[in-house]
Amino acid sequence: MFYRRALFYLIAWASFHIIALILLSLLFRMSINKLGKTSKSVITNSEHTIKDTLPNLMATRDDFPILHSTVHGKPLVYFDNGATSQKPHTVIDRITKYYETENGNVHRAVHHLSELAGHAYEGARDTIKTYLNASKREEIIFVRGATEGINLVASSWGRKNLRPDDEVIISGMEHHSNIVPWQLICEERGAKLRIIPVDENGELVLDEYKKLLNENTRFVSVVYVSNGIGTINPVKEIISEAHKYNVPVLIDGCQAAPHIAIDLQDMDCDFFVFSGHKVFGPTGIGVLYGKEAYLNEMPPYQSGGDMIKTVSFEKTTFNDLPYKFEAGTPDISGAIGLATALNYVSGIGHANIAHHEKNLLVYLTDKLKAIPGMRILGEAKNKICLVSFVIEGAHPLDIGTMLDFEGVAIRTGNHCTQPLMESFGVSASCRVSLAFYNTIEEIDVFIEALNKVLRLLK
Ligand SMILES: Cc1ncc(COP(=O)(O)O)c(C=O)c1O
Repeated sequence: MFYRRALFYLIAWASFHIIALILLSLLFRMSINKLGKTSKSVITNSEHTIKDTLPNLMATRDDFPILHSTVHGKPLVYFDNGATSQKPHTVIDRITKYYETENGNVHRAVHHLSELAGHAYEGARDTIKTYLNASKREEIIFVRGATEGINLVASSWGRKNLRPDDEVIISGMEHHSNIVPWQLICEERGAKLRIIPVDENGELVLDEYKKLLNENTRFVSVVYVSNGIGTINPVKEIISEAHKYNVPVLIDGCQAAPHIAIDLQDMDCDFFVFSGHKVFGPTGIGVLYGKEAYLNEMPPYQSGGDMIKTVSFEKTTFNDLPYKFEAGTPDISGAIGLATALNYVSGIGHANIAHHEKNLLVYLTDKLKAIPGMRILGEAKNKICLVSFVIEGAHPLDIGTMLDFEGVAIRTGNHCTQPLMESFGVSASCRVSLAFYNTIEEIDVFIEALNKVLRLLK
């Protein structure tokens, strides 16, 4: 009798707790949905109705530990993604796992760890080939970043192929990394640098580009997405025009890779570069893609171990692609981290990212335009969520410094695009550049902070 009663109380007690747990979890889900809905609120402006944002936004933000930090006692609002992006747990954990369980040198030994490291490193190359839709893994060269990739092509291809009076075309909205290497090699070879102009909307003047192309043009190197003003350039058209003259084209994809799906076979560029750290991967790693035919005929850029087949004191023969361009021990963990980041981005989906970022851009631009004295530099039809602006009576550096005290990180200066800034008649601007993990609420915090700063400055 006693046992029966005890059993009855036990079952009743357990049932009560199970029901309570179910109710609590229902309540929790409702509150999460409510929070999510704040991000999905309907926002209207003159042209657009923003109905929803990234569906898994809340979960996505939780993937980035740094986004939950505070700066000067305020929650961080990170709007400097054009400079570098933040890293998700999965990338951080993958790099830790590599060093904890797989660390060895690649291509050099038969022991277990070397094999593990080699497998992961070459696997990363395959992931990147797939992400970019390149046709061959041999066309994927690991470099330190976009800057090194462009230097490699300018030095190796340029030194072999440029002759006096040849012409290299770049654009007026290039990052210094896609100006200086060409300037130096043109000087060395007696070649000339030609510039595609930028109009007042911040778009390339394609008619002028077509006029610049001629029998002396040897190379075209153009940015896909401007880091200075956010313009997305019509790279397919730029490439096909150059190909009419059999001229190879390099696309600087640094600011495109985090926002736009890249399809190299469709784009048909001859070279493509990007940096891992801008696309949620680690610093110190990047990719140079080159069509096999070009890479095969180019001399090595750096020399040393791994890029050779045979070495004697009389003569060295070089390794096959891609190793011919990867001298010395590469950034193994960086390549693995980058591949993890790209898989993560693919998991979110470029369509989701583009949709959400478009909403952010429309909302942000509207809010900025409501500020007296505001001048936005470049309002191209096709843009990523990056806005450069100046405000009458307030210096960009002061704005950036004071916003930092409000927890808001933006970039100020010339953004390594001095000629572009000069074409807008300014030496510096404020630049806000958003990623898929940014929210409408963060834009509100930024605008409120900006207004506060302006009240103090003006
Ligand atoms: C468009 C563009 N190209 C090239 C670079 C250079 O990239 P990295 O410094 O990672 O080599 C940047 C960096 O800001 C960039 O935005």
